[in-house]
Amino acid sequence: MITTACVCGSGTMGTGIAIAFGLKKIPTILFDTNPDNLEKARDYIKKYIDKQNVKFGDSKQNFDFILDNISFTPDINRCKAELIIEAIVENESVKTDLYKKLEALNDDSSIIASNTSSLSISALQESLSRPENFAGLHFFNPAQIMKLVEVIKGNKTSDKVITILKETCEIINKQPVICIDSPGFIVNRVARPYYLEAMSLVEKGLCRIDEVDKVLESAGFKMGPFKLMDLIGLDINYNVSCLVWEQLGKPDRLKPSKLQQEKVNKGELGIKTKKGFYQY
Ligand SMILES: NC(=O)c1ccc[n+]([C@@H]2O[C@H](COP(=O)([O-])OP(=O)(O)OC[C@H]3O[C@@H](n4cnc5c(N)ncnc54)[C@H](O)[C@@H]3O)[C@@H](O)[C@H]2O)c1
Repeated sequence: MITTACVCGSGTMGTGIAIAFGLKKIPTILFDTNPDNLEKARDYIKKYIDKQNVKFGDSKQNFDFILDNISFTPDINRCKAELIIEAIVENESVKTDLYKKLEALNDDSSIIASNTSSLSISALQESLSRPENFAGLHFFNPAQIMKLVEVIKGNKTSDKVITILKETCEIINKQPVICIDSPGFIVNRVARPYYLEAMSLVEKGLCRIDEVDKVLESAGFKMGPFKLMDLIGLDINYNVSCLVWEQLGKPDRLKPSKLQQEKVNKGELGIKTKKGFYQY
């Protein structure tokens, strides 16, 4: 069983993943090169704890312990743990630079897992001197709530590492699904048309954004595609669309949306910038 964790990247995903480990009282280091983002993560976790304390106040449950189990640092030398989960910017060379530093700092048995949405685990693995200890661990947003985690086996990932990751997911109350490495894994591949067709309807002037969301939510989807893209981050979602499209040989049906590209160029990235398809 994993007894120490480190999460690299304290943005949307890293913060939620750290909460998931903190909830199980697993000592977790949260590392980010940007101290402001570490402070934002601390504030977000405090707010999450306050909400949980109110929600479960009647049963006198107190969630303050979560913060006791998370330490925040901008110092990479503190990134030593049995399991290190990388949730930094979706850029292959930035990620592989980090892995090299993490491998040098950690024991041979440490596992490094990437939360990448769209980069190939087998390709990322090539940069490592211990590729058998590397896999994908793809959480969904918000990571402290969403149950599903895709556990992705690269060409060189050992079976033992996959077993440890699956067990770790179960310990933190997640539902692991083991996937073979392929473009977009399972969820992001299947979900592409959900976003792209919705944007195509709006681009062609056939529907309004709020109408598409309303109709799909009424049909049973938990969130309409535009609300969901605003939650994920339009930059992240657009990047996934581009990478999946390229990796599958640029099929017309999965061509990334111009509407989304324009929003990204304008810096309208969704909830995190207070403007995306909606205003916040
Ligand atoms: N946003 C989503 O819904 C979502 C869902 C699943 C997976 N992902 C994946 O998770 C990863 C992170 O996404 P996010 O939405 O949390 O991004 P984000 O932009 O919210 O956060 C990324 C964080 O990484 C930090 N960072 C950048 N380079 C770093 C480095 N070299 N070392 C340490 N920290 C560094 C940044 O300062 C930032 O705080 C990406 O690979 C993304 O594809 C995102």
